[in-house]
Amino acid sequence: ANEENPQIRRLSEWDESELAALAEEYGTPLYVIDRDRVRENCARLLDAFPDEEVRYAVKAHTGRAVLETVRDVGLAAECASAGEVERALAAGYEGAEIQYTAVNPPARDLDHVVDRWRENPEMTITVGAADTVERLRERGFDGRLCIRANPGVGAGHHEKVRTGGNAKFGVPYDDVVELAESVAGEFDFVGLHAHAGSGISGDDLSNHRELVRRMGDLAREVASTVGPLEFVDVGGGFGVPYREDEPPLDLQAVADATREALGEVSGTLAVEPGRYVVADAGVLLTRVNSVKEAPDATVVGVDAGMTTLLRPAMYDAYHEIRNLSTSENDEAISATVAGPICESADVLCENRSLASPRRGHLLAIGNAGAYGYEMASTYNSRPRPAEVALADGTARLVRRRETLTDLTTLEQ
Ligand code: LLP
Repeated sequence: ANEENPQIRRLSEWDESELAALAEEYGTPLYVIDRDRVRENCARLLDAFPDEEVRYAVKAHTGRAVLETVRDVGLAAECASAGEVERALAAGYEGAEIQYTAVNPPARDLDHVVDRWRENPEMTITVGAADTVERLRERGFDGRLCIRANPGVGAGHHEKVRTGGNAKFGVPYDDVVELAESVAGEFDFVGLHAHAGSGISGDDLSNHRELVRRMGDLAREVASTVGPLEFVDVGGGFGVPYREDEPPLDLQAVADATREALGEVSGTLAVEPGRYVVADAGVLLTRVNSVKEAPDATVVGVDAGMTTLLRPAMYDAYHEIRNLSTSENDEAISATVAGPICESADVLCENRSLASPRRGHLLAIGNAGAYGYEMASTYNSRPRPAEVALADGTARLVRRRETLTDLTTLEQ
């Protein structure tokens, strides 16, 4: 870490008057994404993995402004759907930089991606089931193929984000060699892939190490029968500190541990972080609608909620929240910040110390850049928020706010 490119950007380091001006101009709820910070996060990844391939897991934030920035600094793109492949291509990615990871792919996705592959024959398709190979064959695909293994180990900040070990993902570990042998002649078999889950943390790298170790063993075994691989992709999951007192991930230590656990393999090590690239580059701004003293809590009602930022409702995720309209010296109260959705899960935090919130105050929610807008919905017929991108000291509206009219445009 160095001063120009520190490992974490805390919510308190954002320019509060700039955020307040943006909320004034574009209204709330409002997502703000800082492209300069995205660039710094990518640079740190490239520093830690200089001889490896770093692929951005597009799902964390698919906005064009982000994709263009990430491509510009040289990260490849890992896409989970035909839609993400489309977005990557639209942002200027070339086939050779695109990895499509098919998880139980719908027929329409395969049709579309194979069509795109015909125009971009360097694109790689990763299969997580033997019958996906059959389905690709039926569509005439014979290009670059990668096999996703289920390494049997999972990791993650929550049960709901553990993918390794979960039977839905990947080819069972013991079946990979046989599948590799059966596809090697027919396709351009390029590599192996695995992803344990989200949230590798500094104090516990044991799961990550174990996954990488198993992938190293598998890569050596596969290579001994089908020949050298181009890459071994060990997935993403690099954690970011969501709580104020959490230390940042020591990326260099993670990189060293990864290389060491993999051992000698034919082919390049690849990693595919999503959250790490965008989490602390994003803030969600929301305005207080109502403050109510209830018997067990002071309920601060805001205009963002589970349809704007789903993570607290879905994973009990912690996001830092600050009141930008008061000074830190103002008396803090214990607040429950809740959204406008008719669900009891629509709570952004409970019993959190917050500087005297009043109606009309502006709150900022930190680490909203990853899986924020991406997981937004229009439940309760709430239009999705707008998004502003910052770069080189200028702000630009990159996604307009949805309107009530937008909500019904698909109906006929
Ligand atoms: N590669 C694959 C195959 C993945 O499935 C994922 C995430 C990643 C890479 C990137 O993981 P990351 O570096 O972002 O942790 N919505 C959840 C996270 C779900 C992640 C799903 N897969 C959350 O908000 O915590």
